[in-house]
Amino acid sequence: MRRPLVAGNWKMHGTRASVAELIKGLRQLALPAGVEVAVLPPCLYLQQVVHELHGKSIAVGAQNCSVEPMQGALTGEVAASQLHDAECVFVLVGHSERRMVLGETDQQVARKFEAAQSCGLQPILCVGETLQEREAGETLLVVSRQLGAVIEELGVGAFARAVVAYEPVWAIGTGLTATPQQAQEVHAAIRAQVAAENAEVARGLRVLYGGSVKAANAVELFGMSDIDGGLIGGASLNADEFGAICRAAGN
Ligand code: 13P
Repeated sequence: MRRPLVAGNWKMHGTRASVAELIKGLRQLALPAGVEVAVLPPCLYLQQVVHELHGKSIAVGAQNCSVEPMQGALTGEVAASQLHDAECVFVLVGHSERRMVLGETDQQVARKFEAAQSCGLQPILCVGETLQEREAGETLLVVSRQLGAVIEELGVGAFARAVVAYEPVWAIGTGLTATPQQAQEVHAAIRAQVAAENAEVARGLRVLYGGSVKAANAVELFGMSDIDGGLIGGASLNADEFGAICRAAGN
């Protein structure tokens, strides 16, 4: 059985004061025991979040790491080893906002994935198609290329200690959600691609859905057989809404 994971990607949001407020709300949540819960604040607030969530069973992760695993001369970057030192458990790699706005390539994403794992972090590999790609019927092709780039570099065994998040770009921050059936189709394809190389790794791999997940649509999405939780953007900035999504994953 795969333990569902719900991770809140705070993106580039927050101030010390708003982070403290959000954590106060998170601390008050009754969270289902069967669900792993994580928050991914901006790097600047990692220490504050780790400190203020102390004793609450919510893991902390980062939104990105450097391609270089160890600290060194690389201005402006944060190494996976430093994230590990800051008590991070997860790190997102290949979020579409980074692929599209910052031009991150599949090769860079694979290096970040490897850097994360080499420092004991669990990478959450983000994949997903644009609206144009969906309309051109290329969804499975695009997702398979993004996933395949990491499998090719690191071998499918790397996915025994990683998470995949399917996030259709057109559903991110738009209020448009993939239907449970649309998401399930892609999730099943992701699992099949991994299973083609290693059935056991595929069975244990958690594949999260992300893109305008709210409490109101979470139950239906999480009810699909290959959806193992969610990667939540906007709704994770509201503690009560995030809590309701976590509870939906426990159903
Ligand atoms: P929204 O939930 O705001 O659509 O963001 C999804 C996302 O990009 C999470 O990584």
